[in-house]
Amino acid sequence: VSTSAPQRRIVAVQVDPPYSVHVGAGLVGEVARRAEGWSRTFVLTDANVERLFGDIARGWPSAFVHAVAPGEDSKSFAMLERVLDAMVAAGCDRSSGLVAFGGGVVGDLGGLAAGLFHRGIPFVQAPTTLLAMVDSSVGGKTAVNLASGKNLAGIFHQPAEVYADTRFLATLPDDEYRSGLGEVIKTAVIDGPLFARLGELAPDIARREPEALAEVAEACVRVKARIVARDPFEQGERKLLNLGHTFAHAIEHAAGYGRIPHGVAVAVGVVLAAESGRAAGLAVEAGFVESLRSLARELDVPASLDALRHGYGIELHPDALLWAMARDKKARAGHPLYVVPFGPGAVERDVDLPEPSVMAALGQLRRS
Ligand SMILES: NC(=O)c1ccc[n+]([C@@H]2O[C@H](COP(=O)([O-])OP(=O)(O)OC[C@H]3O[C@@H](n4cnc5c(N)ncnc54)[C@H](O)[C@@H]3O)[C@@H](O)[C@H]2O)c1
Ligand SMILES: [Zn+2]
Repeated sequence: VSTSAPQRRIVAVQVDPPYSVHVGAGLVGEVARRAEGWSRTFVLTDANVERLFGDIARGWPSAFVHAVAPGEDSKSFAMLERVLDAMVAAGCDRSSGLVAFGGGVVGDLGGLAAGLFHRGIPFVQAPTTLLAMVDSSVGGKTAVNLASGKNLAGIFHQPAEVYADTRFLATLPDDEYRSGLGEVIKTAVIDGPLFARLGELAPDIARREPEALAEVAEACVRVKARIVARDPFEQGERKLLNLGHTFAHAIEHAAGYGRIPHGVAVAVGVVLAAESGRAAGLAVEAGFVESLRSLARELDVPASLDALRHGYGIELHPDALLWAMARDKKARAGHPLYVVPFGPGAVERDVDLPEPSVMAALGQLRRS
């Protein structure tokens, strides 16, 4: 084991106050330095991460490790209350801090708990899934789910620091890895240059080559940081990050939450958004849908409803998806506005797509 400082990439997120996202293999140890000033370090994790990496967390100064059950069900109001009570029981006070050590579930739940505890204590994101590294650990959106829908109760609470240690990705199950790649594809489409670069890196990404992963994670964080800095509270431009998500939420809802990983649904959603734009006669670049599909194929991420049927044994009907989209929380009067990709780096928000075009894309994608 080398004792030299790990190679790192740092991305500044220019919100108030600004913070840094550190990306690289082996840098999670630095959480310890960040936690030194805290009266208590409340580490929120889940049972899988605790089993694999709990010893690391127990080594942080004045650490108290609290593990919730893995999975989306832990993002609940009931669990939030239990976590807050556990923080009191662990002796946390206003000068304590929280470390969200795990995937997006732990990050969203922990960020919300930190934002509420004593009206807000600092927290650090130490993401361990690809999805959390490239997306959910950055930007300060926190939430739990309600029975009536996902992420319906939450606040903005920015982390004090993010440490994305790509070493953790070695143990990530394939399906969770794919889910992260779905958000990577989304981010690459928003960015443009990253879309081409992903194609070049695809074989390395498939092998989870650490340097390629660090490059991709840094690039995704840069894209998100840039957008979040310009629109921290999602009043406009930040909606671009919801590319593919109107479809994805409908897919997740229709399939039953937890059956199709979020990012996998997002990858399918990005393709559906492009297909719908094309069906509506909008100026979607020639060949773009095809290049999206082939990139997804190279990364082994499903990119059609048919692929979801093969991969997960779940049949999704266009009618059920349309119905779910009309109920989306971002829909106005039962009519969602879409984020539509016209090509790499050319994405528009608040696009009003006619229902028949969406239906055509859903039907077409089912057969393709
Ligand atoms: N706040 C945001 O901006 C934002 C953005 C995107 C997604 N999200 C949220 O993120 C959540 C999904 O996050 P996720 O995909 O990370 O899921 P997750 O947190 O459920 O983690 C996925 C699974 O991987 C396991 N795991 C985590 N790290 C591991 C590792 N290194 N090795 C082996 N197993 C590991 C976990 O125990 C879990 O079973 C959703 O609730 C979604 O709403 C939030
Ligand atoms: Zn997402």
